[in-house]
Amino acid sequence: MPVVSPEQEQIGKDNFSGAVEAVNTGDVKRRDVLKAIAAGGVGTSAALFGYSALNKDRVKVAFIGTGDEGNILLSEHPEDYMEVVAIADLRPSNRERAFKGDGNEVRTGLIKKLGASVAGKIQTFDSHKDLLAKKDELGLEAVVIATPLMTHSPIAMDCMEAGLHVLTEKLMARTVTQCKNMINKAKEKNLLLAVGHQRHYSVLYNNANNLVQNGLLGEIKYIRAQWHRNNSFPFSDSWQKGTPATDKELSAEELKEFGFDDLNELINWRLFEKTGGGLMAELGSHQMDAASIFLGKVHPIAVSGFGGKNFYGIEGVGPKDKWDDKREIDDQIFVTFEFPGANYDPADADKKRDKCIVTYSSINTNKFEPYGELVYGTRGTMFMKTEKEAMLWKEDGRGSQGGGPDQRLWVISGSEAGGGPVMEAYETSSGPKVATGGTDWATNVSRGYREEMEHFCYAIRNHGPDHWPGGNPKPVKEGGLRCNGVVAMADAIMALTANLAMELQTRIEFKPEWFDPASDAAPELEHGVKA
Ligand SMILES: NC(=O)c1ccc[n+]([C@@H]2O[C@H](COP(=O)([O-])OP(=O)(O)OC[C@H]3O[C@@H](n4cnc5c(N)ncnc54)[C@H](O)[C@@H]3O)[C@@H](O)[C@H]2O)c1
Repeated sequence: MPVVSPEQEQIGKDNFSGAVEAVNTGDVKRRDVLKAIAAGGVGTSAALFGYSALNKDRVKVAFIGTGDEGNILLSEHPEDYMEVVAIADLRPSNRERAFKGDGNEVRTGLIKKLGASVAGKIQTFDSHKDLLAKKDELGLEAVVIATPLMTHSPIAMDCMEAGLHVLTEKLMARTVTQCKNMINKAKEKNLLLAVGHQRHYSVLYNNANNLVQNGLLGEIKYIRAQWHRNNSFPFSDSWQKGTPATDKELSAEELKEFGFDDLNELINWRLFEKTGGGLMAELGSHQMDAASIFLGKVHPIAVSGFGGKNFYGIEGVGPKDKWDDKREIDDQIFVTFEFPGANYDPADADKKRDKCIVTYSSINTNKFEPYGELVYGTRGTMFMKTEKEAMLWKEDGRGSQGGGPDQRLWVISGSEAGGGPVMEAYETSSGPKVATGGTDWATNVSRGYREEMEHFCYAIRNHGPDHWPGGNPKPVKEGGLRCNGVVAMADAIMALTANLAMELQTRIEFKPEWFDPASDAAPELEHGVKA
């Protein structure tokens, strides 16, 4: 996102790795740049996230929805933790893809992953309902749901009613009321409910958050997050999908039974208000999740924004192929969230002005900057790039303290108030330094999918018998799931309320009761649109 040279980028990565190592090992006195570690590397995750191996006692799992995302999850599913006993999908093409893959290395297919003999034992169903009818025969214990947003809640509710633990993809549900119903059903049935905001299981984000929580960036007053794409080139829009011939055999009755008016709505569900939640639900929710992790998972105070369908549907703008999809969702959104600052107090005239602002944008017409989150602190700047890389630069202080994008830094015991770790410039003379090598960022970083599935299975085996101690999910600090239903509902509230604010063109204040599963209050009930 920031426009920096390759040298400055490398310095930023080395700074991040060194700072992570210094803070993680507590060795904040070393007076040289610490050798880069695998800052987001695989292999360290289980201990970090509070789980361990299952000793061959694998959980019997079915995957519901084996489309683009379901196939990524199937390809990454942890064989030591889960035994895939079945898959279910409405679309014949996607049932086939689950076994054969699609030529993309992130969707290898079950045959390649497990071998033809093991894959051949996995049963296939035409819908989640057909699957649930056979759950006892299958010995099914849990499901992973990767279906269109509108269907998350009805499918998860059916599965929990049948006594199965649920890991559903994000956004948790289409409405906040549905989120609450899911949480209450999980509690009633004493089941685990996890949601796939994978940044909670990214070692890279965990390390970044450690730096933030150790105060290394100083006070954070602004976070800028964005996911910009350019779909103005012919056939470049990944949200506009073709219809495979085999899927045309789905009847109108079958589609209706599962909530879809026609095949186009099933295949291109992201484009419609009923079936999807637009850019905020699909992309923004992940990044607001990340921003709120850095801010300590506090709830926001208010949101306002602009959303528009400013590109699709304007005659004479862009290529002809964008005309046919009849989309309803906005193609550009710009939202501003107000979060409480460290000393925020709504009852105090001065302290109620202590806020941290998070802006989010997503557009369809320019991808100059890579997607990510840029965290602006009073002592440093951190850039999370495409979930795979992280960079850190020191702020340039007064006088000769050094800083800025050209400067390497080291982390020392604090001399500033509070005595926590702080950054110092490595050399006071500016000018880019030659890269020293380090982390294999592109290939060695897990986005967290595997880890979220591992922890889910571990929790099924080890966290019971009471999955709701004291009426709440097991706390994260005691090893509980990191993105449980209550955590994920807050992400859904942010995304869905931002949609309401854009629709109504107004500033909406978040109410504490929206975040309380025991209360019926929900933003869509009070504001009444885009529900
Ligand atoms: N965590 C991430 O980074 C990430 C990335 C992409 C997508 N997702 C999420 O994954 C979910 C799926 O997205 P996708 O891109 O794979 O969509 P997709 O359209 O490619 O696949 C969805 C599949 O669900 C199937 N389905 C619908 N209703 C069903 C039912 N009742 N029973 C069985 N199958 C059913 C459809 O036939 C389809 O094959 C969405 O919620 C999306 O937001 C998450």
